[in-house]
Amino acid sequence: MAESKLVEHLNKALSLELTGIIQYSQHSFLVNGTEREVFCDFFRSQADEALEHAKFLGDKIVALGGLPTVEPAMIRQTVELKEMLEQDLALERDAFEAYRSAWDACAEEHLATKFWLEEHIAEEQLHIEELEKLTSHRKATVDHEKIVLKEAG
Ligand SMILES: [Fe+2]
Ligand SMILES: [Fe+2]
Repeated sequence: MAESKLVEHLNKALSLELTGIIQYSQHSFLVNGTEREVFCDFFRSQADEALEHAKFLGDKIVALGGLPTVEPAMIRQTVELKEMLEQDLALERDAFEAYRSAWDACAEEHLATKFWLEEHIAEEQLHIEELEKLTSHRKATVDHEKIVLKEAG
């Protein structure tokens, strides 16, 4: 019973990774202007990573006796870079939650799956942090404009 709940959450994560493959690819196709020089590659590398994550999830779901979903979750698209990044941030946050829920659903005998999910949760957190920086939701605070170095001993 616990296992089917786990498979359900892993399938939710898989549908979000399938969305990631499509949405990031679509953003790489649509990004234009001088920003394309940098962001086309960025979006494609994220699409590749989503594919890698989807492969791991599909294999794991079958190993647990489940059937991997072939349905992506909602796909968002726009031609504005800032909106693309906001859409991707929303997707990464949803994926993070799906991995978190799968982690919660791991029973005692799924310890290895739990460790494996922890790596994914950490990776998705990094994706969120990068997108929060790219969308300026996350910024460092600078208290002093000038830095005076102490004289060496
Ligand atoms: Fe992922
Ligand atoms: Fe991600």
